[in-house]
Amino acid sequence: MTVSAPRKRESHIEPLKHYQMIIDGRPADSASGARIEMICPSDGQVFATIPRSNKEDINLAVAAARRAIDKGSWRHKTPADRGRILMNLSTLIAKHHEELSQLDARDVGKTIKSARNDVTVLSRYYEYYAGAADKTVGTTIPLGKGFTAMTFREPHGVIGAIIPWNSPTQMTGRTTAPALAMGNAIVLKAAEDACLSSIRIAELAIEAGLPPGVLNVVTGIGEEAGAALAAHKDVDFITFTGSPEIGTFVQKAAADHHAGVTLELGGKSPQIVFADANLEEALPVITNAIIANSGQICVAGSRLLVEESAWQKVTKAFAARFNSLITGPHHGDYDFGPLINQKQRDRVLQFIKRAKTRKTPMLAEGSIAPEAPPSGFYVPAILFGPVPTDSELGREEVFGPVLSIIPFKDESDAICIANDTEYGLGAGVWTQDGARALRVAHAVRSGQVYINAFGAGGGVELPFGGFKKSGHGREKGLEALQDFSTTKTIIINHG
Ligand code: NAI
Ligand code: MG
Repeated sequence: MTVSAPRKRESHIEPLKHYQMIIDGRPADSASGARIEMICPSDGQVFATIPRSNKEDINLAVAAARRAIDKGSWRHKTPADRGRILMNLSTLIAKHHEELSQLDARDVGKTIKSARNDVTVLSRYYEYYAGAADKTVGTTIPLGKGFTAMTFREPHGVIGAIIPWNSPTQMTGRTTAPALAMGNAIVLKAAEDACLSSIRIAELAIEAGLPPGVLNVVTGIGEEAGAALAAHKDVDFITFTGSPEIGTFVQKAAADHHAGVTLELGGKSPQIVFADANLEEALPVITNAIIANSGQICVAGSRLLVEESAWQKVTKAFAARFNSLITGPHHGDYDFGPLINQKQRDRVLQFIKRAKTRKTPMLAEGSIAPEAPPSGFYVPAILFGPVPTDSELGREEVFGPVLSIIPFKDESDAICIANDTEYGLGAGVWTQDGARALRVAHAVRSGQVYINAFGAGGGVELPFGGFKKSGHGREKGLEALQDFSTTKTIIINHG
């Protein structure tokens, strides 16, 4: 993304495509007419533009969502009908699988394989929540003779969703599918760095039968469009995924108009490898958990905790693997693609430089494919170890293909190090000892813990969210239906 003057484009590149937002069921430009250039991370070239919306456009989108709620065209559909439309959308996404995958791969710079996986998960989100739409039952509460009391799940009303660029398809599905199933209307502010698939999903949603104004997708810069959405007084609830810094800002803005907030703010997720772990099985899974999407995943397994007695064996195996990893353009057959933009690339390179300056041992370094254009935002896979737990690499979210190995003495030391972080999003425990695996899983302060695994496809069915600085609230699974709705209790005195 850039807002600077257009750069020189190579003559063989196809003409720029100018995307529009979706507001009130129709394509829309920003009121000011301003646009943002979209840059392909694989070659650094501008390939499209998107509207740069501001407060005025956000007002229009929120008003459209409010009208959709007030008219009741969505909320008062039967839950089964809402489910049918979500299922139509799931089917349409499956039909446009390759188109969406190509769009996302270029926009984010992720490998086409990874983009295809994301779109499969996207389709699954609408399928899963389509089935849930008519199953959100309430409770009855015993008050004794003369009274009947019962609870209902009600939509919040207008939901503001602010999502990041690392997986526009999955993020759009994750936030909108449960919110729509519960009868809310949404204004989704997609990230300025990658958002084209979010626009396409909103178009497909109209084709699937979603009434106008129920799903609005706006594009623009965080400080303008994002801030205006978070501060909008007619937004009832906000879901935000991104950096802790902006999460704090969004929650404060929401507090000014008493809107509820769900925050998902990343992590420093540990992979705990005991000496008895099956290394052959663990190695590809642990490697993938840090290089998938070039390490730009909130739940990236960025700390590898290794039992001291297995240090030599484990570090040798990982060093061999990391030395062989290749990053290259999204359309090639490489292990992972470039980072999203120049800023993120520089940020990750600075982490690496500072670690080297502090003499942190570097155990391996992968390579950049010779075909990768120098104008792309590539960083090779890097393995550091031993990394001090209290160092920057041991603590900060790098958001790049950098894995830090940290030794531990025994089980209690492993738990102590795993929890020695401000974050608490995901964790992996690798051991053949079932009792120990469960003890550690219970002791780690983290929203999800995997045993002899890490990730489960998109994890659509699994409640997801953070402890501590990783955020609060839960998305995915049936729990998302709770967060995207609120309880109404009706009490009858019938004597
Ligand atoms: P960011 O937190 O600035 O952006 C995330 C979303 O928030 C985008 O849609 C952006 O437009 C919006 N936003 C930005 N400023 C805003 C504001 N003042 N008010 C409302 N919305 C605003 O993340 P950024 O700058 O792209 O990346 C910085 C770092 O954040 C990364 O290096 C990474 O460490 C972390 N990050 C974590 C993510 C996760 O999945 N947990 C996703 C993206 C970034
Ligand atoms: Mg930012």
